[in-house]
Amino acid sequence: MRDEARHLVFVSGGSSGIGAALARAVPWKGARVLTLSRRPAAGLEHLAVDLAEPAGWEAAAKAFAREMAGFAGERVVFFHAAGTLTPIGFAGEVDPAAYRRNVLVNSAAPQVLGDAFLRAAHSTRARCDLVFISSGAAHSIYEGWTSYAAGKAAVDQWTRTAGAEQARRGGRCRVVAVAPGVVATAMQEEIRRSPARDFPQVLRFIELHKTGALREPDEAARDIWALLARDFPNGAVLDLRAPEGLPASPQGS
Ligand SMILES: NC(=O)c1ccc[n+]([C@@H]2O[C@H](COP(=O)([O-])OP(=O)(O)OC[C@H]3O[C@@H](n4cnc5c(N)ncnc54)[C@H](OP(=O)(O)O)[C@@H]3O)[C@@H](O)[C@H]2O)c1
Repeated sequence: MRDEARHLVFVSGGSSGIGAALARAVPWKGARVLTLSRRPAAGLEHLAVDLAEPAGWEAAAKAFAREMAGFAGERVVFFHAAGTLTPIGFAGEVDPAAYRRNVLVNSAAPQVLGDAFLRAAHSTRARCDLVFISSGAAHSIYEGWTSYAAGKAAVDQWTRTAGAEQARRGGRCRVVAVAPGVVATAMQEEIRRSPARDFPQVLRFIELHKTGALREPDEAARDIWALLARDFPNGAVLDLRAPEGLPASPQGS
């Protein structure tokens, strides 16, 4: 199967929401799709990893190295969609162990997995795309989301820097970050359940849901895949809500 596939697609966070929709929307017939998360993704090849644990990063890095070594197909894409808002609440007020896990999933895992993916890319001639699912929270203030927002800001700057590096090396690997807008997933349900004391903007998100302003994950996934077919600078930080998807909008969610 590995020799036959012309396209290899990795999706972290493929068990739910946007990641699951990205895995469903792969536009290439016969592509090999491998998901990485704690829960399995229905009907897809899956690697069980906890990305709050260094052992999970190691397992993901091994999977990139194993699957990409000598891969003779055309394209390899890695969507890093795994992310968490848990625990929603103010710094200094939430459970410290849960806070540490949030920092590891949102800040450390994208950088460590991004590095591992680009390292594995040396062993194939295929064109490689590394796509982070970012958020407007990287540049807007949402009280209650400190480590989530800091993680997304780190992802955006990692993307800009790694993109410049890849361009200098000839650009066979493209690195981009995409903010998807407000999408109807389990993460949004968690936001709407938050007490206002922990997340003062909760009413805005309840209102967005009531007025039907949330996008469906399949719609967001289709737009993210469509962006990949377009030409933009390596290291671009994109926002699906901005005209033409570029550049990242200063207003976020
Ligand atoms: N929904 C929105 O409005 C919105 C807006 C901006 C950005 N985003 C971003 O979009 C991405 C996907 O979120 P979503 O909205 O689709 O939420 P979701 O439905 O809650 O999905 C989150 C995914 O992350 C994975 N994940 C969380 N913690 C993990 C861990 N410790 N180890 C491995 N995987 C872990 C989950 O898998 P397991 O639980 O199976 O491990 C799940 O597949 C996130 O990066 C999020 O920040 C979403």
